[in-house]
Amino acid sequence: MSRVAVIGAGSVGSTIAFALLIQRISSEILMVDIVQETAKGQVSDLSDANFIASNHVRVGTFEEAGQSDIIIITAGAKQKPNETRLDLIDRNYKILDNVIGSMKPINPNAILLLVSNPVDILTHIAQKLSGLPKNQVFGSGTFLDSARLRRKLSSILGVSENAIHCYSLGEHGDSQIIAWNSASVGGKPLLEFPEIAILDKELIAKEISNKANEIIKLKGATFFGIAGCVSLVVQSIIFNQRHIRPLSTYIEEYGCVFSMPVVLGRNGIEKVIDIDLNQEEKDKLKQSSKILREICAKYT
Ligand code: LAC
Repeated sequence: MSRVAVIGAGSVGSTIAFALLIQRISSEILMVDIVQETAKGQVSDLSDANFIASNHVRVGTFEEAGQSDIIIITAGAKQKPNETRLDLIDRNYKILDNVIGSMKPINPNAILLLVSNPVDILTHIAQKLSGLPKNQVFGSGTFLDSARLRRKLSSILGVSENAIHCYSLGEHGDSQIIAWNSASVGGKPLLEFPEIAILDKELIAKEISNKANEIIKLKGATFFGIAGCVSLVVQSIIFNQRHIRPLSTYIEEYGCVFSMPVVLGRNGIEKVIDIDLNQEEKDKLKQSSKILREICAKYT
């Protein structure tokens, strides 16, 4: 099982396709875009890199995408400098509605991975519009924010990112929180490291949630980081790796879709981890869920 359809052949979609291709993760990649020329151009360019991987990349239709094993949705308007992700909802809701409508009937076993922003709200909407089971419809969420955070902590502590268990959770946007309380490195609580104890935690949280904006100011868009994260998500699904990643999924306790650590396998989200959060972290997430619920109510 490894036909992956990438919907949206812009910089995010094509970089995801490239990441999948060079890591030889899927057997076939379909590039799908409402603008045929763009998809054709990206496929032609990606095929030139085939000598490193010999993956099959071709232009696909929306109907073929709907029959794929994994469908990655990147189509939509992107943030401009100083715009929030939530500002994109009107434009991207319409695009998502069209995309899902054009793929129907969707393969009942397909995994639908949302990447377009605001990813949490679009995931919630896609769960309703697609009719697929909720564990098969999820978003890239705060995986990238958590990767940015681990990179930052790695440079402070001088240990590999892989040894750092610390998550950004909640909205992939301004109201996300860092779960400091449950974080650990090498079996020791993160907060007990002297370098971390003296850190201005608010400042770090701001730096992480604002990182995309800083990149957008400099180069107009972000795509390498998200493509790296998405390729790992696809890999976990295809090879049933059961990695734990913070991804956007419906969280009963908060009544909304946002990121919590989940176990990722062949069926998509196999399980949500009930992470230990302190009262302050829970209160912030409650606040964040309220904002997301209010926006969602207008579209579902
Ligand atoms: C970012 C985009 C994916 O955070 O929202 O870079």
